Amino acid sequence: MASVALLAVFLLSGSFPARAQDTRTDQAGSVLREYVDKGYCTYTYVVPPGSRTEGCTPPGLERQLAETKEETGRLKNQVDRLTSLVETLLSQQSDLTSRVDSLSAELSKEKIRSAQLEQNLTQELQEQETRLRAQCACKRLVPGGDVISTTTATLPRERTATTQPSTPPPAKESTGPVTDAKDDCTEYHSSGVTTSGVYRIGLLPADVEAYCDMDTAGGGWTVIQRRQDGSVPFNRTWEEYKLGFGNKNGEYWLGNENIHLLTNQKNYRLRIDLLDWNNESRYAEYSTFRVSGESDQYRLHISGYSGTASASMDYNNGRRFSTVDRDNDGSSKYHCSQRDGQAGWWFGYCSNSFLNGRYLGNCGSSCPMWQGVVWEGWRGYHYSLKSVSMKIRP
Ligand SMILES: *[C@@H]1O[C@H](CO)[C@@H](O)[C@H](O)[C@H]1NC(C)=O
Ligand SMILES: *[C@@H]1O[C@H](CO)[C@@H](O)[C@H](O)[C@H]1NC(C)=O
Ligand SMILES: *[C@@H]1O[C@H](CO)[C@@H](O)[C@H](O)[C@H]1NC(C)=O
Repeated sequence: MASVALLAVFLLSGSFPARAQDTRTDQAGSVLREYVDKGYCTYTYVVPPGSRTEGCTPPGLERQLAETKEETGRLKNQVDRLTSLVETLLSQQSDLTSRVDSLSAELSKEKIRSAQLEQNLTQELQEQETRLRAQCACKRLVPGGDVISTTTATLPRERTATTQPSTPPPAKESTGPVTDAKDDCTEYHSSGVTTSGVYRIGLLPADVEAYCDMDTAGGGWTVIQRRQDGSVPFNRTWEEYKLGFGNKNGEYWLGNENIHLLTNQKNYRLRIDLLDWNNESRYAEYSTFRVSGESDQYRLHISGYSGTASASMDYNNGRRFSTVDRDNDGSSKYHCSQRDGQAGWWFGYCSNSFLNGRYLGNCGSSCPMWQGVVWEGWRGYHYSLKSVSMKIRP
């Protein structure tokens, strides 16, 4: 009973192990230490070979704390690095946002501009389409549409008189040689006249003077129209265009009646010479050219384009003559002569050529639209040519 009480005292005091009683080494090299305390208890420690004896003690809380501290430091470092990375990214993002903003602003401006451009182009396209349509409509009408049915009756009669160009018109023969005026400049040319100038042309009821171009393309051309300096206004009435006006040595219109009479005595070709403000020249020739009488409003008949200027007068084929006081054009919307310089011309809806327009001088390519002396297929309708002439020859 007394020994049990002693053991309990020992256990409670906690003072073991007191000191090594015996130390041995086993065959594997482990060290065995035996502690015997006061003869009551025996403890044996086994230390593996190569280990220091202190290695047996478990890792201390301090080391764990130190390691945790170190780990925490590392993590804190990492957190700091991540934080600064996030900050950088955030600032980059705001940079990007502002760039995106400015780009989208630019984009919307560009969108507006392209919409406007599209609108402009559409408008231009529509205008061109309208003009082309008018042109096509005209071409379709010529072979026998309603519009010219009134002339088809008079056409063959006029034509039969011209089918024998070698025979002079009987009416003229019967009056006898009142003057020695020739039929046209070609006859002067064939009779040996080679100097350009003003000559008398035999016509009924009265002769007329005209400029003979004996130099251009073989010579013998009877000039029916000429512009070169703006000295003669071409904004004239029906009556003036009918009888002719101007100065035969300068600018003039031979007169619709005279042109009609001339072109119905033989088969004529038309030549148009054009000169721009760089002294560049172009020409257009039509292998047939004839103008109907006043009863048909001096309707134009041309065909067979050749040349270098483009066929801008094709569109006028089959058109009646209009002046500021006589609207015979092909447009129900415009009075073309009133709109385009008050000049006389074979307007459709309205024209691609306009050699009787105002003499505007050198306004480059920014002359008022369709007001000047225009050959659209060469210089466009914002350009007013420097000089032009229309001449005929059988
Ligand atoms: C469209 O036409 C208008 C008026 O003619 C002009 O002021 C504008 O600059 C044109 N826009 C474009 C994009 O060409
Ligand atoms: C022709 O145009 C000129 C210049 O614009 C003008 O002074 C003149 O009155 C016009 N003449 C006719 C007959 O319209
Ligand atoms: C065109 O020719 C005329 C007459 O020969 C001359 O006076 C003028 O300077 C020329 N113009 C140009 C642009 O060459």
